[in-house]
Amino acid sequence: MRPWRKLFHNKQKTMAEIKCIGILTSGGDAPAMNAAIRAVTRAAIYNGFTVKGIMRGYRGLITGEIIPFKTQNVSNIVQQGGTILKTARCKEFQTPEGRQVAYETMQREGIDALVVIGGDGSLTGARIFASEFDIPIVGLPGTIDNDLYGTDTTIGYDTALNTIMDAVDKLRDTASSHERLFLVEVMGRNAGFLALNGAIASGAEAAIIPEIMTETDQLGELIGNGFRKSKNSSIVLVAESELTGGAMGVAERIKKEYPQYDTRVTILGHIQRGGSPTASDRIIASRMGEAAINALMEGQRNVMIGVQNDELVYIPFTKAVRKDKPINRDLLNTLKILSI
Ligand code: F6P
Repeated sequence: MRPWRKLFHNKQKTMAEIKCIGILTSGGDAPAMNAAIRAVTRAAIYNGFTVKGIMRGYRGLITGEIIPFKTQNVSNIVQQGGTILKTARCKEFQTPEGRQVAYETMQREGIDALVVIGGDGSLTGARIFASEFDIPIVGLPGTIDNDLYGTDTTIGYDTALNTIMDAVDKLRDTASSHERLFLVEVMGRNAGFLALNGAIASGAEAAIIPEIMTETDQLGELIGNGFRKSKNSSIVLVAESELTGGAMGVAERIKKEYPQYDTRVTILGHIQRGGSPTASDRIIASRMGEAAINALMEGQRNVMIGVQNDELVYIPFTKAVRKDKPINRDLLNTLKILSI
């Protein structure tokens, strides 16, 4: 890693003081979280640390559900979706009292540093915890939403995209048999990465994303393109979000403005979070997991591991959880051009 990437380190607890590293997964699960757990565990053991697996995210730090991890605890998991550590969104950890209990558990268990795998809520929790107590914490971006700032991709995003692509391929068969319009809602919380890239990958006619709103007229034209072509059907990917109104909201608009279309709604839901991770997700999770241990050995803290142009980088937590990760606007144009 280039030295200029290491602008934000804050060396309080030295590497010599870290003997035991705790690892947890938090928030929504994502494919390849297991590959990340495996990489963190093995890289830590390789470098002479002991490892403890913390169950159910921050909740495990409060309840004390913690397991010593050896290299065999993470055998045969690189290909598995979900997380062997389980995960949760822990309300108690959002309170100062809860975090105090979590800190005391760490003291009792002899855990000197943490690796937190999760999305923006989990890394926000990590940032607050690290600001209150002298604990080195390194984060890994584990979310299908790809909405963490400073990293080109997040762990699980590529697998979710592939799941969306497979689902839309199947929907196309029935859409074209019945000559229908399908509105397919995908996850992403308030980000349109899954919808936009999922649409390009599956040859959909349009994507409705919260970052760039599509006018109804424009949408009508794009939908019409699908029917004019030999496909005789149209598929629009809609990002879940209050701003887009979700697939149900868009369906209402379409039914009013374009009653000529026989419209159906499919909400893909949590299926997007499961499944065996793609090679790309396994590799990035493995590289990031090893990088987390390297970061701790370099005295880094309060940083998330990211990837930019295939290079691993450190992003301070405060930056990583910014809400305005830019989406490549050119992709919307690409989608439009390819849907004629
Ligand atoms: O952040 C991951 C994510 O899957 C989002 O895309 C989605 O909005 C949310 O989690 C769903 O959360 P839950 O599983 O708690 O319903």
